[in-house]
Amino acid sequence: MPVNLRNRHLISLKHHTPEEINYLLDLSTDLKNKKRAGIKGNLLERKNVALIFEKPSTRTRCAFTVAAIDEGGHPEYLGKNDIQLGHKEDVADTARVLGRMFDGIEFRGFSQQVVEDLAKYAGVPVWNGLTDDYHPTQVLADFLTIRENFGRLKGIKLVYVGDGRNNVANSLMIGAAKMGMHFVIGSPKELFPDPAECEQIAKDCESGATITVTDDPKAAVKGADAIYTDVWASMGEEAKAAERKALLKPYQVNKELIEATGNDDVIFLHCLPAVKGNEVTEDVFESRHARQFDEAENRMHTIKAVMVASIGNF
Ligand code: CP
Ligand code: NVA
Repeated sequence: MPVNLRNRHLISLKHHTPEEINYLLDLSTDLKNKKRAGIKGNLLERKNVALIFEKPSTRTRCAFTVAAIDEGGHPEYLGKNDIQLGHKEDVADTARVLGRMFDGIEFRGFSQQVVEDLAKYAGVPVWNGLTDDYHPTQVLADFLTIRENFGRLKGIKLVYVGDGRNNVANSLMIGAAKMGMHFVIGSPKELFPDPAECEQIAKDCESGATITVTDDPKAAVKGADAIYTDVWASMGEEAKAAERKALLKPYQVNKELIEATGNDDVIFLHCLPAVKGNEVTEDVFESRHARQFDEAENRMHTIKAVMVASIGNF
């Protein structure tokens, strides 16, 4: 069956099949090549997209903005103090108004329920640009980067070390399970992912995929093809920074942890922004293993693919 993502939301990756994820990655590569060839597109011409940001952003905001403009679209940034959402107007009403004016809506904020309600009421595709629970557009960029390095996703051992229950870890687990990868979380027990969520994801996973959760960082990274980390305190958790620093110190990605992979060609990934000296050392961040800036660039190509696939002119 040919893949058709027209008018589809991107809420968490849970509702996307492996074929649909591969389709988005293939389209991302095509759009990346097109941009590199200097070809200006019109796939989003006459399309207006609303970009709602309750939390700050560099990559996601810029990726949506540049991606829309590259293909002739119009992005409209709506910061948390610019609109009534959550202050003077409920989500359902804001969704119905924006849906009358815009062709698609990106939302970054705290509550997953808000992105789900926007999707329920807007009548146009809604894309999750990060909530407390999930960060699906990030994982598409991560997977494109992995595919560019290894030529495949299936069978790749992707190890995430750090806060094992944050939005990035959750979305990586969903994506990796769907794509037949070996996904490992190395995290202190206090920060293990939700067991019910793990069980559900493991039940739905593609044949060959495995999910492992351990509190032993060195055992976690053994044999890794890619080692991934994220900040120890996510946006909204600033008050927990000191406590997390103490808890997560053994999970820092440093030279020793890279060596513990036993793989001289392991790649290092980070969604960014990074707190160097916490989750990753400066030397690893600047090492030949590091791919975080390819990953950051790929945010734009993959987000462009998400918008083109759901609202593009073709
Ligand atoms: N990785 C990521 O989402 O970065 P921003 O917070 O800068 O958008
Ligand atoms: N887990 C991080 C990801 C930032 C892109 C956060 O939510 O702050």
